[in-house]
Amino acid sequence: MYIQSLRLHDFRSYRQVLLTPPRGTTVFVGENGAGKTNLLEAVHLCCLGRSHRTANDKEMIRTGADTCAVQVRVQREDGVDTVGVRLFAAPEKKRKLLHINGKAASRTGELMGHVTCVMFSPEDIELMRGAPQGRRRFLDMLLSQCGAGYYYALQSYNGALKQRNALLHAISRGEAQPSQLDVWDEQLCQAAAPVVRARQYAVSSLCQLAREHYAHIGGRDNEVFALRYTGHLAESAEPADDLRRLLQARRQEDLRRITTTAGPHRDDLLLTLGEQDMRAFASQGQMRTAVLALRLGEVDLLTRRQGETPLLLLDDVLSELDAGRRTRLLSRIHGIQTLLTCTDLSDLTGGQPDAVLHVKLGEITE
Ligand SMILES: Nc1ncnc2c1ncn2[C@@H]1O[C@H](COP(=O)(O)OP(=O)(O)OP(=O)(O)O)[C@@H](O)[C@H]1O
Ligand SMILES: [Mg+2]
Repeated sequence: MYIQSLRLHDFRSYRQVLLTPPRGTTVFVGENGAGKTNLLEAVHLCCLGRSHRTANDKEMIRTGADTCAVQVRVQREDGVDTVGVRLFAAPEKKRKLLHINGKAASRTGELMGHVTCVMFSPEDIELMRGAPQGRRRFLDMLLSQCGAGYYYALQSYNGALKQRNALLHAISRGEAQPSQLDVWDEQLCQAAAPVVRARQYAVSSLCQLAREHYAHIGGRDNEVFALRYTGHLAESAEPADDLRRLLQARRQEDLRRITTTAGPHRDDLLLTLGEQDMRAFASQGQMRTAVLALRLGEVDLLTRRQGETPLLLLDDVLSELDAGRRTRLLSRIHGIQTLLTCTDLSDLTGGQPDAVLHVKLGEITE
């Protein structure tokens, strides 16, 4: 798919913007704080209903405005799709309105799969170094964009988990009985199964795909990149049955710790280079290359699942790669509409963008 038009209204540093990027690569160049990432964030908002960098929607409303709006129109293999998101500052109003092809959508899940993107951002390095939560989010966003089914399955699981944890608290206060856990254990097991199965499939596919991208961009045959799904049910062929057994075995511990200690909410990914844990020894550039390989693997997986290439948003990706890696990366993104930001055009050596736009606070010029 590719963007035909992107409209912003009172979004971050922009009062009014209309962009019609070409099908290939568009480069946004500008100083730090010029508003480059804001543009990519706007696209991300239309794909997943949320920002890639903040959980607080209001931050995206231009200072002083009551509301902001973003609209993306894409050409897909199967037709044109238009997605719009409007956010409101006032607490008494509904905070988010979604529109898909002119019709109001009541749930964020409905957005999934209409406009899809893969975003690389500097914060992605946290995928390598940070807490497991970030790696789970990476998988969840990827799988949600593959189809709303996963998004809703995850919501069910999180709902059941919240209820079970609330019950553990009630039991600890003497307001409920441990036997009441049985109902929520069963709900949790049923809800966990589709989440675990989707993650198992995604990680094994992604490992193959990302390994090839790493070898290409890294340019060294002796560095084999791999990722492995880890967690209580990572290898399970029957996740519901196995979780049921685990919850029973750990019930006393759960009661003592007043939280659910087993399940996919504790999952993680292990990222290795030459079979060594990358967290412990990889260089900054190797970590960046690995994240890029994961993101390009994500592009492949989404393309395979949807029969459509997603949009590729590359925020500040070039600055920490050496010249060879930059050139090999830019050769990989052929055929995918890419929006790329940089602070200096000299970073682009080896690439031939289809459009270069200069960004200054609130303004975009050719
Ligand atoms: N809600 C908002 N209202 C008005 N301006 C905002 C809002 N949120 C952010 N900004 C402004 O947007 C700018 C940051 O934009 P952005 O993050 O896109 O910069 P950037 O060009 O990506 O910079 P860098 O190269 O440092 O990554 C800042 O100047 C900030 O003041
Ligand atoms: Mg930025």
